[in-house]
Amino acid sequence: MTQLPAAQQPGTGPEADRSTTAAPAADHPKALYAGTGTRRITVRDLAGAKERGEKWPMLTAYDAMTASVFDEAGIPVLLVGDSMGNAHLGYDSTVPVTMDHMAMLSAAVVRGTRRALIVADLTFGSYQEGPVQALRNATRLVKEAGVGAVKLEGGERSLAQTETLVEAGIPVMAHLGLTPQSFNTLGYRVQGRGDEAADRLIRDAKAAQNAGAFALVLELVPAEVAAEITRSLHIPVIGIGAGPDTDAQVLVWTDMAGLTEGKVPRFTKQYADLRRTLGDAARAFATDVIGAAFPTEAHTFH
Ligand code: KIV
Repeated sequence: MTQLPAAQQPGTGPEADRSTTAAPAADHPKALYAGTGTRRITVRDLAGAKERGEKWPMLTAYDAMTASVFDEAGIPVLLVGDSMGNAHLGYDSTVPVTMDHMAMLSAAVVRGTRRALIVADLTFGSYQEGPVQALRNATRLVKEAGVGAVKLEGGERSLAQTETLVEAGIPVMAHLGLTPQSFNTLGYRVQGRGDEAADRLIRDAKAAQNAGAFALVLELVPAEVAAEITRSLHIPVIGIGAGPDTDAQVLVWTDMAGLTEGKVPRFTKQYADLRRTLGDAARAFATDVIGAAFPTEAHTFH
């Protein structure tokens, strides 16, 4: 069984006082993280976790090999985010990412995993025209790439799209707060500050839930607003820069693992220093090659 980090030991952490009747979340056989299940996770499993008060982790992934590492580590939900624009494809925003990028990399992530629910982003310009366009592109991700759900940005403004996809049997994760596809109008700053903005965010969150979204990502919003939304929705709320009280937390994997070049957002926590590790490995290889220390007899065929 996967080793539990201290924060997930049964009976500790904020999830312990959320539910008085259920078994401690991580102790439950159906726990999303460190549970005993081996089949592919579905949106119904996420609903069960919300009922139990179980917190869970989500990471982005953009290729089969990295996704397989996270799957083996027990991460229950992987997002093929359009953050691939910055984190994988060398763009400076998510806007240039196309459906061809998304379909190809989502298929790779699905192939690299056995248990995680794979959610793929509908890219900028792939659903804003309306429900028919959204359905065409979401269907492509489900049929061609094999993902279990799609994510799109917006609450009330994306209602018709959400309703149409859900009706067609495609689970939808909504994304509110800082929505990076709109950075040209919103900028990169905290959303939902002040009573009016907070009320609008809460309205949007409820609208997404009513339209049938199975989960909601809240990005860069005040912790108090995220906590209120999490309490008032029956679907799981996944935070990124939204404080500690959401049902789940998501990070961009390259930020989380220290591969990203330069400054990362303050809400990110870095759990490894992959940039240094990979750089050291590359320098060691180069030193061996120029010093004729590699290949040796052990690496050589005769
Ligand atoms: O594209 C992405 O990685 C995302 C997360 C930041 C939630 O949307």
